[in-house]
Amino acid sequence: MYKIFETVDEVSLYTAQRLLEKIKAVPAAVMGLATGSTMEPVYAQLLSALQQMPIDVSQLITFNLDEYIGLNAQHPQSYNYYMYQHLFNQLKIPAQNVHLPDGLASNIETACQAYSHAIENMGGLDLQLLGIGSNGHIGFNEPHTCFASRTHVVELSEQTRIDNGRFFTEKSEVPTHAITMGIQDILRAKEIILVATGRNKTDIMAQLFNSNIDEALPASALKQHHNLTIVLDREAAALLPEQAFKSAV
Ligand code: GLP
Repeated sequence: MYKIFETVDEVSLYTAQRLLEKIKAVPAAVMGLATGSTMEPVYAQLLSALQQMPIDVSQLITFNLDEYIGLNAQHPQSYNYYMYQHLFNQLKIPAQNVHLPDGLASNIETACQAYSHAIENMGGLDLQLLGIGSNGHIGFNEPHTCFASRTHVVELSEQTRIDNGRFFTEKSEVPTHAITMGIQDILRAKEIILVATGRNKTDIMAQLFNSNIDEALPASALKQHHNLTIVLDREAAALLPEQAFKSAV
């Protein structure tokens, strides 16, 4: 289903409300969370709504999608740092309920397996929030990642390192590898919300709309999910047919 709004504000408010509804309905919900500039206004809206109408988040459990390998939690570009800056410093979830992939794990393969197991042990993700890379990656699952993949280490594509270079002083500082939930971990979520805004996402959203389910386009895996909402602003949706604007496609 597509939900298309005029502005980023409306997209973020709608998405934050969906998260809130989930927390209200299932106080011990297991939430898969994403990073990236798209999510900043979503988390800001969520925090502002919670300020106006506080609800109990003490049972909430979170699993983040991905993390750069080699950056520690204090590094301003690590996703761990991002999550505390934009959400966890204000949202009082017990520390043991927060899960972030460890990009500094000494045995990274074991850490990857443990991460997918931990999600399963919690009963699986109730809701997975996703952004999308300009090459169609979800989490850090780059094009041609196997759709059966579980949490694993990836070598970042040139496109992703260029896109994410905007957050670093120099592109050479962008890590070459990352740890990410696999596509199978994502697909097992009971509900998925993918959010994309702005001109940088126009082309990939059109490609996604028109594509078959194909490992060359990681986000196309989501087309087999029974409870997917794609939330877009008008810019990201600019090349979509009218059909997407009107209905539950
Ligand atoms: C990064 C993250 C993704 C995110 C994507 C889009 O590479 N690994 O999880 O969805 O970028 O980010 P942005 O929202 O900044 O465009």
